[in-house]
Amino acid sequence: MQLIDGKDTAKAIKLEIKAEVESLLREGNRAPHLAAILVGHDGGSETYVAYKIKDCEEVGFRSSLVRFEDDVDEEVLLGKIRELNQDEELDGFIVQLPLPDHINEQKVIETINPKKDVDGFHPVNVGKTVIGLPSFVSATPSGIVELLRRYNVETSGLHCVVVGRSNIVGRPMSILMSQKSMNATVTVAHSRTKNLEELCASADILIAALGAPGFIKAHMVKQGAVVIDVGTTRVPSTETKSGFRLRGDVVFDEVAPKCSFITPVPGGVGPMTRVSLLSNTLLAAKDNIDS
Ligand code: GUN
Repeated sequence: MQLIDGKDTAKAIKLEIKAEVESLLREGNRAPHLAAILVGHDGGSETYVAYKIKDCEEVGFRSSLVRFEDDVDEEVLLGKIRELNQDEELDGFIVQLPLPDHINEQKVIETINPKKDVDGFHPVNVGKTVIGLPSFVSATPSGIVELLRRYNVETSGLHCVVVGRSNIVGRPMSILMSQKSMNATVTVAHSRTKNLEELCASADILIAALGAPGFIKAHMVKQGAVVIDVGTTRVPSTETKSGFRLRGDVVFDEVAPKCSFITPVPGGVGPMTRVSLLSNTLLAAKDNIDS
């Protein structure tokens, strides 16, 4: 069994990005600039956005944080997005999800200029991804593809089961795995899938993205399979300073011995998701220089 170390891989990619930023600066360009819009004070969202800002600093990007309270008017938020769309000093921005119930998330996503949509959530980017055109690809799936590439994991002709069909992870993941670069034969499983356990056990590559801690157990995994655990559920813990810890969708200790490759939680997919946002922002910045 080989552990796929997302933390180390992300560190290596950050160094590559930092070197590219230095070269952009040497050529007289400004630093790539990412902004994050955060609505409210949800603990998870606060943490994720803080990480994104810290990541920017590490690679030499400029970053901006725009905050709104929970009760922000939808039109005010949309107005801010339109303003950021026009800001020539800004390469890309994200609106941290989830948003409060009174705000239409889809409307928010569709208001973002696709050229600045470094999350890759806008239908234009999703559509381009589906037909294999250059686009911003959602950070978690693109981070997973990068991990598989860097670990030389064979995917061609193999059966990949993606458990979960979210717009952010499961669905785009299934699209990427079926493309010519990966050449996998893909099944998307979800809460209504019949014989889910047997289906998982038939996978050469099992990508668990359901957000159900410990759902995937040893009997659901084929001997020699590649297992990618996308789960990052925050569960209470008395052993950490923050009072919680992250739990994956896979019971690592019993599944790992059966795998050819497996990602841990934490330290697997999570750090790659963060670094993919940086890669997308660098792409956006380079696009701005070229145009
Ligand atoms: N909430 C959970 N994951 C994400 C993400 O990748 N981007 C944004 N904007 N919100 C999220």
